[in-house]
Amino acid sequence: MISVTSTSSSDSRTVLQILKDSNQKPISQCEKGFCGECRLKLKKGTVDYINDPIGFTRKGEILPCICKPVGDIEVEVTCI
Ligand code: FES
Repeated sequence: MISVTSTSSSDSRTVLQILKDSNQKPISQCEKGFCGECRLKLKKGTVDYINDPIGFTRKGEILPCICKPVGDIEVEVTCI
């Protein structure tokens, strides 16, 4: 389980970018919400989508490449 925190309310980074900036190597491909490759489980908190997700997700999963955390969140990450 990994906690993700944006540094400020004006932080424009996606969840995926925050993970990468913290030296995680989450799986991703298109980084535009199309392929679903980056999907991960949101264990705690909520996210705001920048664009409507097109890639496949199951209940409780998010596409971190196109959403930003709302406050602190916890995600279950599969890394390469
Ligand atoms: S990397 Fe393709 S949907 Fe996120």
